[in-house]
Amino acid sequence: MTWIRKYAPKSLKEYVNQKEAVAKFLAWIKNWKPGKKPLLFYGPPGVGKTALVYAYAHENNLAVIELNASDTRNYSTIRKVIGSSMKGATLFKKGKIFLIDEIDGLAPRYDAGAVNELLKIVKESRYPIVFIANDPYSPKLRHLRENCELVAFKKLSVYDVERRLKQILDAEGIKADKQVLRAIANRNAGDLRGAINDLEVVARGKKEITVKDLDVLGYREREENIFNTLKIIFKTKSPIAAKLSIMNIDKDPDEVFWWIEENVSNEYEKLEEIAKAYDALSIADIFRRRIMKRQNWRLMVYYTDMMTIGVALAKKEMYRKFTRYKPPSVLRTLGMLKYTREKEKQELKDLAEYLRCSTKKVKTEFLPFLKLIYKDRFKDK
Ligand SMILES: Nc1ncnc2c1ncn2[C@@H]1O[C@H](COP(=O)(O)OP(=O)(O)OP(=O)(O)O)[C@@H](O)[C@H]1O
Ligand SMILES: [Mg+2]
Repeated sequence: MTWIRKYAPKSLKEYVNQKEAVAKFLAWIKNWKPGKKPLLFYGPPGVGKTALVYAYAHENNLAVIELNASDTRNYSTIRKVIGSSMKGATLFKKGKIFLIDEIDGLAPRYDAGAVNELLKIVKESRYPIVFIANDPYSPKLRHLRENCELVAFKKLSVYDVERRLKQILDAEGIKADKQVLRAIANRNAGDLRGAINDLEVVARGKKEITVKDLDVLGYREREENIFNTLKIIFKTKSPIAAKLSIMNIDKDPDEVFWWIEENVSNEYEKLEEIAKAYDALSIADIFRRRIMKRQNWRLMVYYTDMMTIGVALAKKEMYRKFTRYKPPSVLRTLGMLKYTREKEKQELKDLAEYLRCSTKKVKTEFLPFLKLIYKDRFKDK
């Protein structure tokens, strides 16, 4: 069993912080009766949205019926699940809670009729229902949102995360430098799931861990977001910094290329600098085509160096200003963004089917370890 499972809170005592959300949830569930507005949880990943429902259910001997809306085709699937398990009583539990995750990820577009029907089922439900959304302000949720009570979850503090990690290590009988826990808490910026995953990778099977053991985490260097990468490329004069800026980014170089291309002229103001930057990009583009044509991947480094170092060094001095970077319009026209997302989605679905769980579980619970396993495998070759 992974540690995030093993140490999922079994009671509210083990549940960390989120005071306001907990208070709202308790007030709601304790006085719940049919017809009451459902709750809509939202907030960053790994901070206890799902865990709160399970902790409460565990404490009160309730069954949780969880459904991931992203994996279902439409509202009527949700209606069916709720509808059919609404009738039967559970065998060993006192009651049930329905938990419908990623409601904003539901495939078809907003459909007022379907939402209305869903709400009707919700109104008639004999058991409480909690919805979870990544983005509660998504336009397709408007109607649902107006009919739910919103509950916000916050990022956990470094202190909260550290404390929970310490409890886990104590339970496992593992000693650790204080710096190790601090480092793990910091790099996961308020995400306890990420922190526990990291801790497991570092500590499992050991009696004691030190800062040196953190090296294995290299593989999971927090994903740099594209805005930071652009900021580095556009602001730095250091070739190394520019080169490294794309190391930890979870986008392929072609996509990064278009992000840079789109934003050069927003950042740089002097014409000769803009021209120089575009020259570098055009050379990068030539390399890209050679790579594709001859399948010569050794040229890759010239391609990425031209678009990072080439663009970085095109300026005389850094512009001390804030630029709002825009997503590349060309990707939208080419439908490339959608294409990569679709491809990724399909791969996740395949894995989910193989592992018999939701795609979200694959992403959050299996992928970190698969990446680690495969990294070692590639190293041997
Ligand atoms: N507030 C918390 N108290 C105790 N444990 C927590 C808390 N938040 C997260 N965890 C730990 O992290 C794991 C993942 O948390 P959870 O599934 O609740 O995240 P989430 O907020 O639902 O994230 P997502 O939006 O990705 O679904 C839990 O199984 C638990 O081990
Ligand atoms: Mg969750």
